[in-house]
Amino acid sequence: MCGIVGYLGKRNASDVIVDGLAKLEYRGYDSAGIAINTGDNLEIRKFKGRLAVLADNLEKDNVIGNVGIGHTRWATHGEPSDANAHPHFNKDMTLAVVHNGIIENYLQLREQLEAEGVVFKSKTDTEVVVHLLDKYYEGNLLDAVFKTISDLRGAYALCIVSADHDNELVAVRKDSPLIAGLGEDEAFIASDIPALLKYTRDVYYLDNGEIVHVKDNKVKIYDSERNEVDKPLIHVTWDIESAEKGGYDCFMEKEIFEQPDGIKHTLERRLDESGKIVLDDIHIDKSYLDYINKIYIIACGTAYNAGILGKTAMQKWMGIPVITDIASEFRYNQNFVDEKTLVILVSQSGETADTLAVLRDSKKKGARVLAVTNVVGSSIAREADDVFYTWAGPEIAVASTKAYTTQIVALYMIALNFALEMEKISEAEYFDIIDKMKEIPSKVQEVLDNRDYINVIADEIVGSEHAFFLGRGVDYALAMEGSLKLKEISYIHAEAFAAGELKHGTIALVEDGTPIISIATQQNLFEKMVSNMEEVRARGAYVVAISQKHNKEVEKVSNRVIYIPDSEDILSPIIAVIPMQLLALTVSSKRGLDVDKPRNLAKSVTVE
Ligand code: F6R
Repeated sequence: MCGIVGYLGKRNASDVIVDGLAKLEYRGYDSAGIAINTGDNLEIRKFKGRLAVLADNLEKDNVIGNVGIGHTRWATHGEPSDANAHPHFNKDMTLAVVHNGIIENYLQLREQLEAEGVVFKSKTDTEVVVHLLDKYYEGNLLDAVFKTISDLRGAYALCIVSADHDNELVAVRKDSPLIAGLGEDEAFIASDIPALLKYTRDVYYLDNGEIVHVKDNKVKIYDSERNEVDKPLIHVTWDIESAEKGGYDCFMEKEIFEQPDGIKHTLERRLDESGKIVLDDIHIDKSYLDYINKIYIIACGTAYNAGILGKTAMQKWMGIPVITDIASEFRYNQNFVDEKTLVILVSQSGETADTLAVLRDSKKKGARVLAVTNVVGSSIAREADDVFYTWAGPEIAVASTKAYTTQIVALYMIALNFALEMEKISEAEYFDIIDKMKEIPSKVQEVLDNRDYINVIADEIVGSEHAFFLGRGVDYALAMEGSLKLKEISYIHAEAFAAGELKHGTIALVEDGTPIISIATQQNLFEKMVSNMEEVRARGAYVVAISQKHNKEVEKVSNRVIYIPDSEDILSPIIAVIPMQLLALTVSSKRGLDVDKPRNLAKSVTVE
């Protein structure tokens, strides 16, 4: 995720662009830049850091011109730095591009261009775009863009400006959001509506494959076959705040609803043409996997909960002992990290102090460290030996949602890839799981589409002081995540219990009306879970079951049932967590709380 803005009109472009970027910082904030056609040349300013760094620079010495592009970055390829910041430009600085998305075939394109003598200045995937434009440009900007995009694979929203055309701007959309806005004698391009609302409310929503050509204040839209498209101009009535949240009430809600896309991107962008997983930033081979004798997965909070599922998948597919532990415990307990240990760290922010301390300590002991993180250039990403980026985009709400589901997908992909390397699973089983993983986004969407039912349940538990979550096997790990979500944003005391442990003490807490969310998605444990639900129901609990559609048995032992689509047992947590996220969100907002910023918590925990 990144934010892009383009402007052509009577105002000073850099002012409009910086204003627009400020409204898109929720899409990324590790570096920012602009390219403005000054009438003589392209002036490019770009800096690592938040938009304020660029804004300060322009305040001291503004760039004057009426056409330009800008970008606020959330790094995917290449750490945050001045060189990797957008816009990227060609050798003569006559063409500049900003990009949101991922060019999947950039390595191959980069090699081809380098063989043709192009010198790259950044580590980004984006830079190939501007060198292709340079290669194809023969005086007509639109022609060059059409030729360039025919070489690209992946997702992109691009906006392009040229030194030779002070009255032109071209933008393209494929699988990344993009809109065009129309004012009086001016036109705008942006990733999202908030960037434009100060100037115009009249926008074109672009469809995949469409290209916008802004010339002399006129906007023409073409489809990928270069036919002109007649699109309706939509008048937007949202206010700025709700527009930033994409029309959702809060960022957590928006991020919950982004999960089908997040999961799809994490998975499918790493599959090659034959459908095999490609882990580009992980350099671990069969001989290393045969050499190690254990794996530790270490993390905090939600990332730890994802780590437990990672452990299940690794033990199942790789047949190797895996221990998952909480970073703040692990670092002070006796552990057995040595050079025969692979340490996998899971961290959305990549900055969590305890997780980072485990990284440094493990490296000192000779272990290899693989990080699963969402933030390119974060401390954990920089110091780890290998990195798997989840590419979920910035997570703004304190309560983690899309990071969690993409972390599970990441850990499963690592497990599958390693298991195949080690010849511990057959190709048939490997491809079968991948095929089933591809079905997850639509199954998650199905749960999201049925959110009204969660509202009914939220009404019934909103006044409770306590709530418990029950599960067995991976459902216990999921119960831990469900209870963490509920307690951290609704302040209801919530705890997760391994259902088999009930009789060893915890069942004493069950009273008339105690809400118990019981997760029963594992076929081999299903009957045992049903018995446990019966036990708590007999003691007056208000039982909410989460189970697959075919498990109608649960209706007999629960007050409410949330059905999720059928799926492979090991994959079901990625789907079953969605109703629990929605429940926590709904209860919190019904209690009138600040869902995105719960009390006493911070998004990134950089102290012990
Ligand atoms: C809970 C939550 C936290 C984080 C934890 C680790 O919703 O978000 O429990 O998971 O603070 O943070 P990262 O993943 O950034 O290391």
